[in-house]
Formats: sequence, structure tokens, C-alpha cells
Amino acid sequence: MQDDLRDHLITEEPYYQPVADEIELYEAAYSVRMPMMLKGPTGCGKTRFVEHMAWKLGKPLITVACNEDMTASDLVGRYLLDADGTRWQDGPLTLAARHGAICYLDEIVEARQDTTVVIHPLTDNRRVLPLEKKGEMVQAHADFQVVISYNPGYQSLMKDLKQSTKQRFGALDFDYPGHETEAKIVAHEGKINEEMAGKLVSVAERARNLKGHGLDEGISTRMLVYAASLIAKGVEPLGACRMALVRPITDDPDMRDALDSAVTTFF
Ligand SMILES: Nc1ncnc2c1ncn2[C@@H]1O[C@H](COP(=O)(O)OP(=O)(O)O)[C@@H](O)[C@H]1O
Ligand SMILES: [Mg+2]
Repeated sequence: MQDDLRDHLITEEPYYQPVADEIELYEAAYSVRMPMMLKGPTGCGKTRFVEHMAWKLGKPLITVACNEDMTASDLVGRYLLDADGTRWQDGPLTLAARHGAICYLDEIVEARQDTTVVIHPLTDNRRVLPLEKKGEMVQAHADFQVVISYNPGYQSLMKDLKQSTKQRFGALDFDYPGHETEAKIVAHEGKINEEMAGKLVSVAERARNLKGHGLDEGISTRMLVYAASLIAKGVEPLGACRMALVRPITDDPDMRDALDSAVTTFF
């Protein structure tokens, strides 16, 4: 394997608790190198899932956190100036395509559409990446795959993926796991017992029911893991929940009261 990619190999198994048949489906998708879109709210396990799958498949993983300042050159690469003149440096997408990594574009809608279109020729049967500035056409390595994550809840008309982008991907829906599964995850990740973890999950379930009724987004699994970690460090549960679960998601005093009282129901 190319030295540049060795650092991107995941050697230790990332803990991932399956929710349905997503592991088998992803393996099938990878076997035909289908570009994949992971859809779901923030903090529900999408990133952890890709890390787990890259480890399972034994492929390096190159992750790019997308943002609106990102340009096509940030993905593809650019000429750099050094003592001997100029030198081309592959961007993360080119590196992955050239040497055969899984390229994970996290929160793809954050990127501008003129940036996102650079993945188009890589995500149809051409599997090529034109480096216009360099005058090179990179043929993607056989192991290369593009994976993107996408939170359908955030989309507005201004910020959405083009149909021409969406239709290049297979998609897996992610959501918060069922009660027992989520409690298991929170207990494992936050290093608390499952009974305590189950109570945290119950608080989150209350908050998730308020989504669309004053809350934009529910309490995520990630937030529960934070709360659990505080409890594991000896913070009393009420305080941990307020700090890690309630305060971050709302500024509205009535909503805070409603959530705080949900917390006291369980603790
Ligand atoms: N199915 C799962 N298995 C293991 N850990 C999970 C799972 N779902 C969520 N988590 C935990 O929640 C945290 C946030 O998940 P992450 O994958 O970063 O969310 P996303 O990428 O969807 O925003 C992870 O770091 C992990 O601790
Ligand atoms: Mg993520």
C-alpha cells in the first residue's frame, strides 16, 4: 500500500452496535463500489459506522469535514510553491481515488454545489477524476469508494444536494437506535451501567418527541454519551443531564423547564 495511505488504515476495531442489516447492505454496496449516502440526524452513528466498515473491509479511510469555504482544490489538490519551484499536491479526494481508499465526505451539504460537482465523474461508471490544473485524468483505483453523509433535517431549498448528485448514490437511513440498543451503546461508550444508560435514553426519547414542537433537533446519541461520561467521572446525573443534554439544544426558558422536568422524572 502507498505510504500516504498507511496512516489512514484503521487497525483497531471501532466499536459499532448494528441497528438493522446496515453492515450487510454496506458490504454488498462496497462489493460493487456503489457510492453511498448515509442519511440521518447528527450524532446518531454515521461516522462511527463508516469507521467500522473501513476497518472491517481493511480499507484506508480518508475523511473530509465539509464546509462552505471548501473549494474544489481543497478536495482535488493544488500546486504548492517550494524551494525548487512548484510541486503538485494531491487533495484528499485525489489521494483516495488514486490509491484506493474510502473517501468520506462528512456533511456534504455544507459544501457549495460548485465544489460538490467534482465528485460526479468519480461516482458514475467512468470512475475518473480530471485534475484540470495538472492536465491529468486520474482513473480511480479498484478499491476506491465515495461515501457522503447527509442530514435531511437541516435542508432548506438553498442548501440541498442537487438531484444530479443524489442520484449517483445508494442510501442508508440512520436514526437513533431503539431503547435497548441505544442504552447498550451509551453504557459502552460512556462507561456507565446499562440501567443508568437506560434512564438517559428515556430522557432523550422525551426530547425527541418534542422535535418540531419547539425543538429543531432531538437529543442525539452523542449527547447521551457526553452525559454518561460526566456521570462516570462522578458528576451527579441531574447536573450532567442539564449540561450535556438540555442546555445545548435550547435557549427557550419554557422548553428548558420542560426538559429539566423530564430529567427529574428519571433521576
Ligand atoms: N450504532 C452505534 N454504535 C456505537 N456507537 C454509536 C452508535 N451510534 C452512535 N454511537 C456513539 O455516538 C457518537 C456519535 O456518533 P457519530 O457516528 O459521530 O454520529 P454522526 O456521524 O451520525 O453525527 C459516537 O462517537 C459513538 O460514541
Ligand atoms: Mg459525523
